[in-house]
Amino acid sequence: MNILLFGPPGAGKGTQSAMLVEKMGMKHISTGDLFRSAIKGQTALGLEAQKFMDKGDLVPDSVVIGMVDEVVQGLSGQGFILDGFPRTVPQAEALDRMLEKYSLGVDRAMFLEVPEEQLIARLSGRRVCKGCGAVYHAVSHPPKVDGVCDSCGAEVIQRPDDQEDAVRNRLIVYKKSTEPVKAFYQQRNSLVEVDGTGAVGNVFGRLEAALAQ
Ligand code: AP5
Repeated sequence: MNILLFGPPGAGKGTQSAMLVEKMGMKHISTGDLFRSAIKGQTALGLEAQKFMDKGDLVPDSVVIGMVDEVVQGLSGQGFILDGFPRTVPQAEALDRMLEKYSLGVDRAMFLEVPEEQLIARLSGRRVCKGCGAVYHAVSHPPKVDGVCDSCGAEVIQRPDDQEDAVRNRLIVYKKSTEPVKAFYQQRNSLVEVDGTGAVGNVFGRLEAALAQ
């Protein structure tokens, strides 16, 4: 199964993608994770992306589209979940061309809906492991030992773009550039809106139910 999972920053895309991957075994393609890995490796792509990400701006379409094309090209038949792409209408149009080029389709375009005040609480409390990328929350899901990852023992930190100024900017950028993507898929009747509020397990249940339809 091929799924697009999008929604505002902090809606739970990464959290839910990890659960879907564990249950259904498809490949998880997160453009945010790909950029963070490139930044960690200090590659040219990472250095370019970091200039935009730290401020909460989008990385330019040409850079993102080229990166996703390479990954999609290498899928060789495995199902996928695209997390955080497309995030602009030109990216959605490019994805259409890409899928046609590789004879692939999308089964569901899933949109996770969460009100803004909850997004701010989720993002400002989010903590991530520097080693394995595990996601925590300072209040609702802290690691067992403060600052130490339960899974790999590496340091747990706050993402630079989860600082207050960057969060505010990400929400503005989201409204301007990513909300129109929702309308793009709505017009084709392929959008499935899922309530992303409540406990993580409840959101997952709603996603599973929507996928089963
Ligand atoms: P990316 O990493 O994709 O960031 P994002 O879209 O802003 O999404 P987040 O990772 O912040 O949130 P999420 O929805 O995955 O939520 P999570 O599960 O972590 O992108 C980062 C940057 O890269 C962008 O700003 C941009 O610069 C660049 N970029 C990436 N893709 C791009 C593209 N296509 N084009 C251009 N630039 C691009 O959950 C958040 C927190 O909430 C966690 O602490 C979690 O524990 C908690 N939580 C999750 N679910 C629940 C729940 N149900 N209840 C309570 N807490 C919950």
